[in-house]
Amino acid sequence: MFGAGTDTTYTTLEWTMSELLKHPKIMEKLQNEVRLVAGSKLEITEEDLEKNEMPYLKAVIKESLRLHPPLPLLLPRELTHDTTLMGYEVAAGTRVMINAWAIGRDPILWENPEEFHPERFLDSGIEFKGFNFEFIPFGVGRRGCPGITFAMGVDELALAKLMHKFNFTTKNFLDMTETPGTAVHIKFPLLVTAVPHFASN
Ligand code: HEM
Repeated sequence: MFGAGTDTTYTTLEWTMSELLKHPKIMEKLQNEVRLVAGSKLEITEEDLEKNEMPYLKAVIKESLRLHPPLPLLLPRELTHDTTLMGYEVAAGTRVMINAWAIGRDPILWENPEEFHPERFLDSGIEFKGFNFEFIPFGVGRRGCPGITFAMGVDELALAKLMHKFNFTTKNFLDMTETPGTAVHIKFPLLVTAVPHFASN
């Protein structure tokens, strides 16, 4: 639970921040959304998230998970019975690895797949709950991730708070090289300058 829950959640946030720093216009749009919802309040809270008034926040995190699923090959599965898949006969007991990373970047499934474009998720109805097979960062079915709601609650709140309170810059060349492993991290640590933002109203 600790391994599955902590590594993945912070990695998602780190990839998301890296993409936002690479795309300042998208970061600005997200900050505007969050700051509008916060109004003159000192803190963004879980209640603000529950009101569903920050669709762009959700879209940004989804787009980050599409390009950078923290567990790109999900977890290994084993077939419980003989199966025919796309004409291939696969025997019971076969270990199956599912490449969610490649599915998320498949040009047959996604327009301009390499582009970080959160708008693609606005009004698309595509969720990561396991019904849209083109987007499966949490896996699918009975062995799918049981921590989705908790993970998204934590990441949305953390990102909203960062966007509310700070402006960010970096002097680093944002190198998006990945480390190999079951969980994939950004290879070069993200170094940013965070400047506190004070609401004018
Ligand atoms: C962004 C954050 C997270 C991502 C991307 C993620 C992703 C995944 C994936 C891909 C799997 C394998 C599913 C499959 O093979 O179909 C998994 C399994 C699992 N996750 Fe998560 N996870 C996240 C957060 C969490 C959190 C916060 C918890 C717990 C608090 C958690 C607990 C687990 C557990 C216990 C399993 C194993 C389930 C089983 O094998 O029956 N995960 N997760």
